[in-house]
This record gives sequence, structure tokens and C-alpha cells, in this order.
Amino acid sequence: MRVNGTDYRTVWMEGHTVFYIDQNRLPFDFIINKATSYEACCVAIREMQIRGAGAIGAMAGFAMAVACMESVRTASPDLIRIARREIESTRPTARNLFYAAEQVAEAGGRSPEEAVKAAFRVADRDAADSQQIGEYGNSLIADGCRILTHCNAGWLAFVDFGTALSPIYRAHQAGKKVFVYAGETRPRSQGARLTAWELFQEGIPHVIIPDHAGASLMAQGKVDLVLTGADRIAANGDTANKIGTLEKAIVAREYGIPFYIAAPTSTFDLACASGEEIEIEERSEEEVLFQEGPDEAGVLRRIRVASPGSHALNPAFDVTPAKYITGFITERGIIEASESAIGKLLAQEPP
Ligand code: MRU
Repeated sequence: MRVNGTDYRTVWMEGHTVFYIDQNRLPFDFIINKATSYEACCVAIREMQIRGAGAIGAMAGFAMAVACMESVRTASPDLIRIARREIESTRPTARNLFYAAEQVAEAGGRSPEEAVKAAFRVADRDAADSQQIGEYGNSLIADGCRILTHCNAGWLAFVDFGTALSPIYRAHQAGKKVFVYAGETRPRSQGARLTAWELFQEGIPHVIIPDHAGASLMAQGKVDLVLTGADRIAANGDTANKIGTLEKAIVAREYGIPFYIAAPTSTFDLACASGEEIEIEERSEEEVLFQEGPDEAGVLRRIRVASPGSHALNPAFDVTPAKYITGFITERGIIEASESAIGKLLAQEPP
């Protein structure tokens, strides 16, 4: 996507160096960071400098490729296994991270050149899938559509284009009038900080809403479609996504509003029979107790926003049962949220 007149991907590799947009500094500063070791890539994922299912998948792939090159350079064959374990321990919920680490580690067993090629394939596929999701998802968006989204499943969360926001970009480019309610998504505010920034850059009309305003807007008939991304989708269609998604899905069902999940097939995990088997990341209580933002001089400050002495619980994701999901928008088409439709989709040869 274009930022200040230049086309960017969220993460890319040149030689042995991985470059990525630092999402912890957005929307206040647009900064490109560099990681020159797989360990530095792991820190970037853990600290959420890079985040979102597809973006951390691509970062994991590049990190594996760096480790494979390092393993040959230092004659340490064990490094591929050690690095894979460390990369996979950075964040547990998003399927794409494991998918990418596996693809690149396998290729790295053949040669570092193969690992690098595999990492680029993962990243390129992520961008292409996201773009295709935009094409299919656009067919669900009528002129004048008012869409509620949660968290950030835009291009920042992937390599490019995004998933939930990709159909919105496509509809906007096609000249349809769209309006987006961006749920703020506490505690890290990916909606208020990142989705809002993306939509603003693209000139798409939107407002940021408090997380708990969604139900009331839906009850008032102000939402036509709910569109979110996914971090992992089980074989039966149960879907893990940012905490708060479940609530939106239940309310959408109550008011008869279509609730779609946009995700590439690389997010589906047939090894998880149902949502009960998806590991939900629990993050530090600090994210709930403190908030960060720039002061009047533009210096980033961290302030406590909760009563001193209390602790916080911070599950990063929830699982929406398939019964609340109208359908999945994938790069291979739109399907219903059922085990048989998912099985058929994944059995298809990619085009
Ligand atoms: O914790 P994050 O910001 O990495 O969360 C992942 C997500 O971006 C969301 O759950 C999103 O809606 C899924 S699609 C990337």
C-alpha cells in the first residue's frame, strides 16, 4: 500500500536483513526497523512491533530463512531446529506463524537458498491471497454499506492489502460509498490506532467507536455488515480472533446482520478439530493497566489508567463458534462456516 507516495509491504527481506514497519510507533510515527538475526525478528514479534496473523507469518518465514543462512555460515546444523522452536514460541494463536516456520524450515533442510525462496513464497502468497479476498469480499458490499470491523485486519496485519479491510478497499476503489465503524480494540487499540490510520490514508469515511458501542449501533439498524479477520480457524469453523470478536458475532446474529470472517486458507488448521483446541495467548497485565501515546511535544509516554493495586486479566483472543459465522471469505471463494465446506475448500488445488 502507499504511504507518503511510496509503496510498502509490512515486512520484506534484503540480503540477510529483514525490514518491517514498526506498528508500535503508528499512527504517530512511520518508522522502518531492521532485524539482522532471527532472535531480533522474534523480539519484534513478541513485542508486537510487527503483528497481525499474516504479517507475523511472513516475519516468521524470513526469521527462519535468516536462521538457515546462519546455520550454514556457522556450521551449526542444530540451529534450524533451535530457531524454529524459538520462532514458534513467540506468539501461540495465529496459525500463519506456524505455517510459515514449517514451510521455510523444511526448505532450509535442503539449502539456505531454498529457505530464502520459501520465505519469499510465503510472503508473496500472503499478499496475493489478501488481494484476491478483496475481490471476493467486494461482492458482499452494496453501495452505501455500513460496515463494522474489529481489531486491525488491514494491510498492516498482513504483507499487503489485508483481509477484512481488503474488500472495503476494493469496494471504495470501485466507486461504492462505504462507511466503516472501527472498533477501538482495547487494550492495544489496533482499531483506533491502525485500522483508523489505514482508512484515513485511503480516504475511506469512518469513525472509531468504543468497543462496547457495537451492540447499540447494531440494535439501531446502523450496521449492514460485520467483517473481521481471523488468527486461526478450526476444522469445524470455530474461529479465534482478537478478543471482543465473539461479542460482535453474537449481537450480529441477534439483529440478523451478516457476520463474515475474511481469511486466507493458510489460517485454517485442520489439526484443530474445534475451537476448544486453539491455544489462546494471554498477554501481560501491563497492557490493560497502562496506555501509551504521545504528549504535546510528540514524546511517547506511558501512563497508568487503572486503579493502583488491582491486577488485570488480558486474554488476547476469543473463539467464535461457527454457528455465529455467516461465511468465510477466502482467496478461493466464499464458503459457509461448516466442516464439510471447509474440508472441500482445502481439498481443492490452489488455482
Ligand atoms: O494481537 P494482534 O494484533 O496480532 O491480533 C491479531 C489480529 O490482527 C486480529 O485478531 C485480526 O483481527 C486478525 S487478522 C490479522
